[in-house]
Amino acid sequence: MKTDGLAFREIVHGSAEYAEALVLRNAILRAPLGLRYSAEDIAGEQGFRHVAGFLDGRIVVYGQLKPCAEANWLQMKQVAVEARSQGSGIGRALVAFLEALAREAAATGIVLHARESAAEFYDRLGYIREGERFLEVGIPHWKMRKAFP
Ligand SMILES: CC(C)(COP(=O)(O)OP(=O)(O)OC[C@H]1O[C@@H](n2cnc3c(N)ncnc32)[C@H](O)[C@@H]1OP(=O)(O)O)[C@@H](O)C(=O)NCCC(=O)NCCS
Repeated sequence: MKTDGLAFREIVHGSAEYAEALVLRNAILRAPLGLRYSAEDIAGEQGFRHVAGFLDGRIVVYGQLKPCAEANWLQMKQVAVEARSQGSGIGRALVAFLEALAREAAATGIVLHARESAAEFYDRLGYIREGERFLEVGIPHWKMRKAFP
C-alpha cells in the first residue's frame, strides 16, 4: 500500500519544505487551470497551518487549515496528492490528520470548497454539501461541511 511509510507533519510557511509543497500544489491545483500562485497568495497564507505527507523523504501530499469567517470552524484548503499517488488512500489519510489537528484545536468542525471533480471524495469522508454549486478559480465547486461529534 502506498500509505505504508507515509508520515505527516506540520511544515513552516516560507521554509524549503513549504517551497517543495508549492511545486506540488502548482502542478496539481494550478497548472491544469493555466494559473499559478502569486506572491500575494503566498504571503496571505502566513497564519495558516500547513501539513505535508512524506514518503521516502519527499512530499507526496499537502493540505492546510485556515481560520474561518465562522467562529470556531476551520477551513481545509489546497488538498493535493501527487499525480502518480492518487487513488491509494493518501488523500483520506491527509484529511484524517488535518481533522485530528482541528479537533486538538477544539474546532467545531471543518468547512471546505470542493472542486466538483473531488466532491465525491469528500462525500465519502462524511462531508455534507450545502447550498448551490458556485464558481471558484473558474471551475464549479461545492461548499461542504463536517461537524465534529
Ligand atoms: C481528490 C484527492 C485529494 C483525493 O485523494 P486520493 O489519495 O486520490 O484519494 P483516496 O485514495 O484517499 O480516496 C478515498 C476514497 O475516495 C474516492 N475518491 C478519491 N478521489 C475521488 C474523486 N476525485 N472522485 C470520486 N471519488 C474519489 C476513492 O475511490 C476512495 O474511495 P473508497 O471509500 O471506496 O476507498 C486527490 O485525488 C487529488 O489531489 N486530486 C487532484 C486535486 C484535487 O482535486 N484536490 C481537491 C481540491 S478540492
